[in-house]
Amino acid sequence: CRIRHYHFNVVVKNATKLCSTKPIVTVNGTFPGPKLYAREGDNVLVRLTNHVQYNVTIHWHGVRQLRTGWSDGPAYITQCPIQPGQNFLYNFTLTGQRGTLLWHAHISWLRTTVHGAIVILPKKGVPYPFPKPYKEKVIVLGEWWKADTEAVVKQATQTGLPPNISDAHTINGHPGPVPNCSSDDAYTLHVETGKTYLLRVINAAVNDELFFKIANHNLTVVEVDACYTKPFETDTLFLGPGQTTTALLKADQGIGKYLIAISPFMDTTVAVNNLTGIGYLRYNHTLAFTPTTFVAIPAVNATPVTSVFSDSLRSLNSKQYPANVPLTIDHSLFFTIGVGINPCATCFNGSRAVAAINNISFVMPTTAILQAHYYGINGVFTDDFPAKPAIPFNYTGTPPSGVQTMNGTKVYRLAYNSTVQLVIQGNTIIAPESHPTHLHGSNFFVVGRGVGNFDPEKDPLKFNLVDPVERNTVSVPTAGWTAIRFRADNPGVWFFHCHLEVHTTWGLKMAFLVENGRGPNESIEPPPSDLPKC
Ligand code: C2O
Repeated sequence: CRIRHYHFNVVVKNATKLCSTKPIVTVNGTFPGPKLYAREGDNVLVRLTNHVQYNVTIHWHGVRQLRTGWSDGPAYITQCPIQPGQNFLYNFTLTGQRGTLLWHAHISWLRTTVHGAIVILPKKGVPYPFPKPYKEKVIVLGEWWKADTEAVVKQATQTGLPPNISDAHTINGHPGPVPNCSSDDAYTLHVETGKTYLLRVINAAVNDELFFKIANHNLTVVEVDACYTKPFETDTLFLGPGQTTTALLKADQGIGKYLIAISPFMDTTVAVNNLTGIGYLRYNHTLAFTPTTFVAIPAVNATPVTSVFSDSLRSLNSKQYPANVPLTIDHSLFFTIGVGINPCATCFNGSRAVAAINNISFVMPTTAILQAHYYGINGVFTDDFPAKPAIPFNYTGTPPSGVQTMNGTKVYRLAYNSTVQLVIQGNTIIAPESHPTHLHGSNFFVVGRGVGNFDPEKDPLKFNLVDPVERNTVSVPTAGWTAIRFRADNPGVWFFHCHLEVHTTWGLKMAFLVENGRGPNESIEPPPSDLPKC
């Protein structure tokens, strides 16, 4: 194992896309930001220096941060923000995981432009559990606003209305050809006939779940969220924001140019940026003017495509990479998640959009919860987050009147090494929507999913406790549910939220507090001396 040193300078840089230029916040001046490469077991040290006028934090999305929660990054959950002019050393070790992840800013909407790939290679000498690719390519999917996104979110918070949708979907920073604008603003993946490539696809978009497709080429999925899967072949990938999919691509078609398309998924009437991001797969030795082979993109509401993809994911569950699914349950939790409307005197229309878990909209504290927990500071949070909603009802039918969201900064407390089953139920208070939900600090196993109301008698009988996919972010289907299991073996405070930034902003978030154990390696490490103050 070695130490990997990185310098992340947060700087403003002008960027031109869609024929318009704006200053954006970046790491080291690039969009997407620098790729972080390491091997399993390495110690990663990232020195972040904040040269911009915004507060900044970085989250290493999917990195377990075993006992190092101080480096996890969500503002006011594990750390106070790094203020203008300050710096902070993120220090963590990559234990027990290998594959593709992402890093991103975790404060306000800065992650729109402040994000990049994390590639964790296996330990030296350890092969992949699939054929060695000829080359590896990182493909970061993003979303672009012509306007300043900090202004977009500020305006939305003030008016209580949904924020403006984005103006483009991007592939490695490129939206694709724009009429009457630059003709070559498209990402191109160059391949050689007969070779196999490993594509590390990352959805770093802000508010859109995305389909990913390459004309005439199937992909073999081998890993998601840095967990190996049983290989399966598909013509379409489906990724929510925060999710990653690593897949093998065989360049086995005729020499030519093939479209790569990323398009949004939204199976309700909620406003969405319906534009397709375009790139090209291009065989070497192609003549300058080869015609492009096009691809049929899935419909924006192609729910069956998302279900087939999700249901095809299975843990590799080999001798070397076993799926250790918890078989007994200490905490059986039922969380409803959804979007609603609350009265608001100062808002446009006298109401504002809110989002909640068990009808509680999470209010961000002004001191980091992990610090409050560690130092025993009172009054920052309460530990009475409910294990289930106060009023049970038909979650996917017409909601009872008077179901209103309450505010609170509540955590759910878990004893060290206890096991959790969490059923996440989408509700239809306003709009049934698909929610990519993310847990910090631990992966989980997706043991079941379904449409309609979760049935506590019948549905658990169908759970997959043998080889369920392991991941850190999972889509909860529209007006449906997803069941996950995990072991609380990482002491600290761990954020749990919808990874659609608009829903996080509206309050669809909470945190788990995992207590220290008694053994020598069962406590969170002491905080670093340069931890920012609030
Ligand atoms: Cu990638 Cu808390 O998020």
